[in-house]
Amino acid sequence: MTSWAREMGKDSNNRQLPRVKGWPLLGSAYALIRDPLGFLRRTRETHGDVYRITAAHMDFVVLAGMEANRFVADKGKDCFVSSGFWEGTLKEMQCPHSFIGVDGDVHRFQRNLMKPLFSKTAFNERIPELADIFKETLSVRYDSTQRVSELFRHVLSRQIGGSLQGYQPTPQEVEALMRYQTTAMNVCSLKKWPRMALWMPGYRQAKKQVQALADRIIASERTQEQGLGYFQTLKEHGQDVHPEWFTPGDMRNHAIISYLAGIDTVGATLSFMLLELFKQPELLRQLRAEVDAVFSQGIPDADDLDGMETLKNFIREVMRLYPTAYAVRRTAARDFVFQGYSIDKGQDIILFTTANHTDPEWFKEPLRFDITRYQAPRMEHRANGAWAPFGRGAHTCIGAGLANILLSLNLALFLYHTDLRPACDLKSIKMDFSNPSAGLDERFAISFSPRGAA
Ligand code: HEM
Repeated sequence: MTSWAREMGKDSNNRQLPRVKGWPLLGSAYALIRDPLGFLRRTRETHGDVYRITAAHMDFVVLAGMEANRFVADKGKDCFVSSGFWEGTLKEMQCPHSFIGVDGDVHRFQRNLMKPLFSKTAFNERIPELADIFKETLSVRYDSTQRVSELFRHVLSRQIGGSLQGYQPTPQEVEALMRYQTTAMNVCSLKKWPRMALWMPGYRQAKKQVQALADRIIASERTQEQGLGYFQTLKEHGQDVHPEWFTPGDMRNHAIISYLAGIDTVGATLSFMLLELFKQPELLRQLRAEVDAVFSQGIPDADDLDGMETLKNFIREVMRLYPTAYAVRRTAARDFVFQGYSIDKGQDIILFTTANHTDPEWFKEPLRFDITRYQAPRMEHRANGAWAPFGRGAHTCIGAGLANILLSLNLALFLYHTDLRPACDLKSIKMDFSNPSAGLDERFAISFSPRGAA
């Protein structure tokens, strides 16, 4: 796509909403598929905080910037629903009340139920177990080329499953989960793929495998002597109170939602962290010094991990520049006005939640990788709504606590136990947008040896 001319379109009140000019028929579809984050960053720069885009038969209003981030979390929180975007995927997955795609009371009820299960304290005592899973994975993979996405899918599925439900899926089960999610979302919500993808034998096989896996996860908690209480809580405080919100399909979805939401997001962020460290050896030395000081005392708890300032700021900076969930989709729940523009009920909306990440008003020299921006007196992330990699509003990431533990623990273990090196041409590794969350291309590979062995 060459140039983005500013063109004025009409909205329902005859007031003019900036419109991104695209190709005949296709609109901006190609740019949105190929590099949606770059596209949103460029168009926000030229069109401002609210504008319209078309992509083939779809029409979106983009809301971006500080006012949008504050609006969705506060005064405008009732103006948006998630259900419009998720409806098709939830139908395909037979879980009409999955809490990621419902709103209002049914969402609030489930959030409140789930919150303690996802709290930092819930995972604190499991940190040694999480560390063992990672170290065990490393120990059988020394000195061989490892595709980073595959490595993290393997380790994170075991860590997330182990810490939430006491079940660690096999690599085949994880592949089935990923295929199931990518296909269902790309067809039914993102509308990037044709519906016939749902009839492909590979997808249908994956769907069956995932349903069987969900049943196995639910059954496995029942047989554990000391269950983790995940499904017990859902059953006793959820299904018994509101059986209509916890159908068998909804319960299956509860069994897999953390894998679907957590594996690729945490895995991609870890990949971006490694890529950045390969580019910045001095930063790697600084991080390693901090990790050595803490890990030489044994495996830290959640507060110790949280207290590792350099590591924490490094993670913040990676999530600022490489936000894997850079935008979220919504539908207007009613007519409303934003910055003087009327938005109609039913309008599809892209909330570009991470637009501020590269806005110099909030982050000085925004394209510069600089972890000192989070230190006093700068504290650039402190402005409410500036830094938002975990989303904004009612649906913000419920797994953020676990994500922070996994990001800091896994990177620290890598640095403490191994010498790492790239096993691919780093210059050829680009961001990849073929999955629902942004990641690095599949060719990103590394190898590692026990530390100091070389
Ligand atoms: C770096 C890692 C992660 C990032 C960047 C991330 C990002 C996000 C974002 C932006 C949302 C909001 C979606 C929306 O508003 O539509 C979200 C929601 C969610 N995330 Fe995460 N996430 C991460 C890790 C995790 C993990 C590890 C889990 C679970 C173990 C998880 C579970 C969820 C769930 C269940 C929701 C839906 C919450 C709701 O609808 O109320 N996420 N995440």
